[in-house]
Amino acid sequence: MSADQLQAAWAGLAALATAPDAAAIRPLFAHDPDRFARFHARGAGLLLDISKTAISDEVRACLLGLARAADVAGRRDMMASAGMVNVTERRAALHMALRGALPGAAAESADAAATLEAMRVFTEAVHRGEIRGATNQRFDTVLNIGIGGSDLGPVMVGRALWRAGDPMRPIHLGNVDGHGWETVLPQLDARRTLVLVASKTFTTQETMANAHLVKRWMEASVGKLGAAAHFVALSTNLKATAEFGIAPDRVFPFRDWVGGRFSLWSAIGLSLALSLGWERFQELLDGAAAMDRHFLEAPLEQNLPVLLALTEAWHVNGLGLDRRAVLPYDERLRRLPAHLQQLEMESLGKRVRLDGTPVSHATGPVVFGEPGTSAQHSFMQLVHQGPKPVPVDFILVARPDHTHAENHRILLAHGLAQAEALLTGRDAAGVQADMRAAGADEATIARLLPHRIFPGDRPSVTIVLPKLDPGSLGALIALYEHKVFVLGALWDINPFDQWGVELGKVLAAPLLHELAAGAAGDTHDSSTTGLLAEVLKLQAG
Ligand code: F6P
Repeated sequence: MSADQLQAAWAGLAALATAPDAAAIRPLFAHDPDRFARFHARGAGLLLDISKTAISDEVRACLLGLARAADVAGRRDMMASAGMVNVTERRAALHMALRGALPGAAAESADAAATLEAMRVFTEAVHRGEIRGATNQRFDTVLNIGIGGSDLGPVMVGRALWRAGDPMRPIHLGNVDGHGWETVLPQLDARRTLVLVASKTFTTQETMANAHLVKRWMEASVGKLGAAAHFVALSTNLKATAEFGIAPDRVFPFRDWVGGRFSLWSAIGLSLALSLGWERFQELLDGAAAMDRHFLEAPLEQNLPVLLALTEAWHVNGLGLDRRAVLPYDERLRRLPAHLQQLEMESLGKRVRLDGTPVSHATGPVVFGEPGTSAQHSFMQLVHQGPKPVPVDFILVARPDHTHAENHRILLAHGLAQAEALLTGRDAAGVQADMRAAGADEATIARLLPHRIFPGDRPSVTIVLPKLDPGSLGALIALYEHKVFVLGALWDINPFDQWGVELGKVLAAPLLHELAAGAAGDTHDSSTTGLLAEVLKLQAG
């Protein structure tokens, strides 16, 4: 497709978005009793419903035209065959090879399989008690030290799938804040704790500070020599892992073509294999691989990641909705919004295209969320009645893993009701009828009417999982990963770099020095100097 066709596709979308009823959803349902049937799709065991959006047949056709003009399929196939899709870092992006062999990336797939096999052997040896701590005790706890992509994915999956009785207890240390360490410390018995230092670069200041802190604690507990038996590294930087003192046979490597936020399937997932057991870790990978096959093979019109991405493009670029809420109706998915914040905002928060020129369209929206129903009692007021709609992803799990059937029915009823309420709203006549039926007098009704109207026509998508198990969770995460990739293709940006996090790291260095010296330098703006001086004064007591 040519640049002209792409421009025409964007122009077509803009024209549809400026139609007077462009954001209306209710008329689409009124005119089409089969709307749900025609606007949902299935893949890798998941159902995606995009019917509760203002995407009409015409808009859908235009969005699919945009996907074709942006060559989403070509770029996807390029990613799967080890093409250099991460152009700024001159790398491929082969997270799919971590969970299933890619014919177009045979060497990388074999490399990933070899590490996976080493992880399996290690995991099972730890579980059988063949690998033990310095005092010959079995390991029962795995402490993962990492941040960002070396933390959020494992934490999210661990919280979702870990059950009492699983092989090892997972504990995560992410933030450099010493209060984090103070919180996990009482839960640890050094003699039974296996420490994973998870860092792609092995230079991330927060992770290395925590790793050294934990190393000192371990050495004090089991001796300097014994401590080595308790440490494992997950990294691409073998020189730095050796310098830290981790033996080569305790290093599980991965390659630079694994992006941090796409890395939970790599060696970075070792805490999951150890805590959940190998079989369930493998099921997680298999679930993701099933979504990969769907993404690679399903036609665009039925392709879940493509549909999810096109829906977001309609909201962001068509309707100008630059925020999105994620509400998993499953408490076990409480860290999913945090994982998606990194996956989506670190990937799509970009202002220039692949060629370095400014983007001509808005890019990644702000993503936030909480599990339902708790979210309903915090931020959903704004989503229902704030002046600007906020699209929502509802994630429902049909079958729970507990026996409290009534609780689960309440949970699901509320999830479905939220999406329905956003769609249908409550107009003046409805509010008046409700209030009269409740016995309100006419003056009260007139006074409260504007406050009680719900505008409706507020968009949401719903994803349904049959059950929250490793396979369906793997598919769900991969769905969002591929959605991010498709949006990167539509917006012609690089979803695999994150230069925007660098400047803060650089500026922290002199500030750290000044904090240690107890004196503010004169190189900062007056606000930073003033705040630093205030902190130093307060510290001095
Ligand atoms: O600062 C952002 C970031 O580079 C993320 O992209 C990454 O997931 C995280 O830091 C951790 O990096 P590392 O695994 O190299 O410690």
